[in-house]
Amino acid sequence: MYNKLLNCLDCVRRRTDFVPKVALVLGSGLGDYAETLKVEYELPYGEIEGFPVSTVPGHAGKFIFGYVDEVPVACMKGRVHYYEGYPISDVVLPVRLMKLMGAEILFLTNAAGGVNTSFHGGDLMMIKDHISVFAPNPLIGPNIDALGTRFPDMSNVYDKQLQALIVKTAKENDIFLQEGVYAQLTGPSFESPAEIRMLRMLGCDAVGMSTVAEAIAANHMGMRICGISCICNLAAGMTATPLSHKEVQEAADTAAPRFKKLVTETVRAMGK
Ligand code: HPA
Repeated sequence: MYNKLLNCLDCVRRRTDFVPKVALVLGSGLGDYAETLKVEYELPYGEIEGFPVSTVPGHAGKFIFGYVDEVPVACMKGRVHYYEGYPISDVVLPVRLMKLMGAEILFLTNAAGGVNTSFHGGDLMMIKDHISVFAPNPLIGPNIDALGTRFPDMSNVYDKQLQALIVKTAKENDIFLQEGVYAQLTGPSFESPAEIRMLRMLGCDAVGMSTVAEAIAANHMGMRICGISCICNLAAGMTATPLSHKEVQEAADTAAPRFKKLVTETVRAMGK
């Protein structure tokens, strides 16, 4: 695994010497975010030997290296999901790669279902903590000592200062922001109503099929992490309508302008 990672790094370094400060993973709805970047270099995932390439419509993947103001950002347009059949170690490879390129901060975004009954479709939620026990842990297997310790502490995965920065940025820009706990399930099926009731009892506010494994791997490597979910729909059983990928994408598109503004202004503030 470590060799594969180093090979990918080698592949990237043969193409660009770009050193990001922030690694930004774009979830559904933020797909065209890169248009707001001052682009330095684009690298399709398919051109990186051994790199996992997504099969989901709307997730076609490439790295976009560029600047938000003066802040160098490695942007992932599209991520791979565990439900596509990749080993979980492949799912977190891109995040590990961006850390090895020099990124100190990991900014995770995603589309999620709202579990908290006070949420509405289109809300943005800052991730304060997560529940990972319903998806495989990306650190299972021999520990890669060069990346981090065998038993990493998980008490403060989502950096308190970055959380404060997101809250402040949202306030200054008049963007309504929920806060809560995100749970990653494997998907690809959406949850059942009984599963959503269970998650609510466990203290989850939002549910999705990504992000947590990436946060665990990044925390293992000592990155500072923050995350925002776009609550695209209320989760199963909370409304009369069945869930569909189309609905999720449409809601993400509607929230996109606010989402982009919050991400841009937060990244800008990270450079200060
Ligand atoms: N469940 C899981 N993942 C999701 C959902 C959901 O309701 N909406 C968007 N991603």
